[in-house]
Amino acid sequence: MISTISRENNDIDGAIGAGVSSSTGPVRPADDKGGRTDGRFVAMSATGTPHASPGDEHLLLQGVTDYAIYMLDASGTILSWNTGGQRIKGYTDAEVIGQHFSRFYPQEDIERGEPQRALGIAARDGRYETEGWRVRKDGSRFRAHIVIDAIWQDGELVGFAKITRDITARHLAAEQKRQAEQALAQAQKIAAVGQLTLGIAHDFNNLLAVITASLDQLDVAEGRRREVLVDAARQAAGRGARLVRQMLAFSRGQALEPKLHDVNALIDGASEVYRRAAGPITQCVFELAEADTRVMVDAEQLEAALVNLVANARDAMETPGTIRIATRIARPRAGLHLEAVPGRNHLHVSVADDGPGMREDVRLRAMEPFFTTKDVGRGSGLGLSQVFGFASQSGGFASIESAPGEGTCVTMAIPLPENTNDA
Ligand SMILES: Nc1ncnc2c1ncn2[C@@H]1O[C@H](COP(=O)(O)OP(=O)(O)OP(=O)(O)O)[C@@H](O)[C@H]1O
Ligand SMILES: [Mg+2]
Repeated sequence: MISTISRENNDIDGAIGAGVSSSTGPVRPADDKGGRTDGRFVAMSATGTPHASPGDEHLLLQGVTDYAIYMLDASGTILSWNTGGQRIKGYTDAEVIGQHFSRFYPQEDIERGEPQRALGIAARDGRYETEGWRVRKDGSRFRAHIVIDAIWQDGELVGFAKITRDITARHLAAEQKRQAEQALAQAQKIAAVGQLTLGIAHDFNNLLAVITASLDQLDVAEGRRREVLVDAARQAAGRGARLVRQMLAFSRGQALEPKLHDVNALIDGASEVYRRAAGPITQCVFELAEADTRVMVDAEQLEAALVNLVANARDAMETPGTIRIATRIARPRAGLHLEAVPGRNHLHVSVADDGPGMREDVRLRAMEPFFTTKDVGRGSGLGLSQVFGFASQSGGFASIESAPGEGTCVTMAIPLPENTNDA
């Protein structure tokens, strides 16, 4: 009598059953002392000593209903099978015993010689394992996990043990999961394109605001002032054109390579754009470091970040005030900015205003994409996230100092190239 069945190995995808091994070597019949230990199930007596009689093995085989277990002769003819086989495939004993096992294969697999190939591999390697579609008696298909073990006796191949498990439910679940993941990836792609579009629209709006402001004042301006306004509008339009070029490069999959740029010179060159972006009631002043301010940056992105910061300062200030655009070289304090390149000097590019400042909860969230305190239609909440993205893509970081009533200073810190580290 079998008193306990202990499972030696929980990998249920493998072969199970008394008399059937899932080990990779060919199955050798058990010695006649019984107590097969090469299978996954081992029959144990009450005393704990393994033993099994042929009757026990039959009982065990018939007790397994989730797996179809067959014995095939060396040519693939079915010699016996268990109730699991009947349950999964729907045939009766009489319809199956003596038939070739290929009858369970779909027609196209039979034509490709799949059943013979499987037996050939099992005979050569001792074991063949696969997953595929099989056919039930009623013609319906099910997904099967199959293991075929070769059985040898006295050096001669006497047949095969074949174990089939119906894994249709698992297969369909996996397929559904794969489709859901694909749909999610597609939705994420669309969302990313949406965000990108919004970012581009945002940058263009900033430039159009500069152009419109310049044109508006052109009517009443005279002499040198007219030239300055026209120049500001031209520069903003030029930036727009460069932005389009960038987008085209991006859409062709060309990565935008940051180049070594003298940031002071870049700021100087576009100063009129920042003055226009600051609006008529705020003053825009420049405090540029007397140092080598060359860093690896994307010039367009730096200019877009500065326009974003100036626009934020302008929006914040309800009364006349000053916007300061400054550069300086500093070494981030160790441990304070984890994003900083350790031990390296950084170029700090900051935009400070003496406006109302931010509450702490706003300051903490200000760089989040789409975070805005502005009315619907006024702010998209992408300005500071562009600043943050630019700084981190340039190998540095961005930070905000602000408190209610104390104005705001946003700093982008970009590491200096290694050779100018001690500047
Ligand atoms: N200089 C500043 N002074 C006070 N608050 C600011 C300043 N800059 C940003 N903020 C706050 O941070 C929020 C987020 O700024 P961000 O530039 O990311 O978006 P936005 O200006 O609201 O919208 P967008 O820039 O997309 O038009 C702002 O809504 C505002 O509350
Ligand atoms: Mg903004």
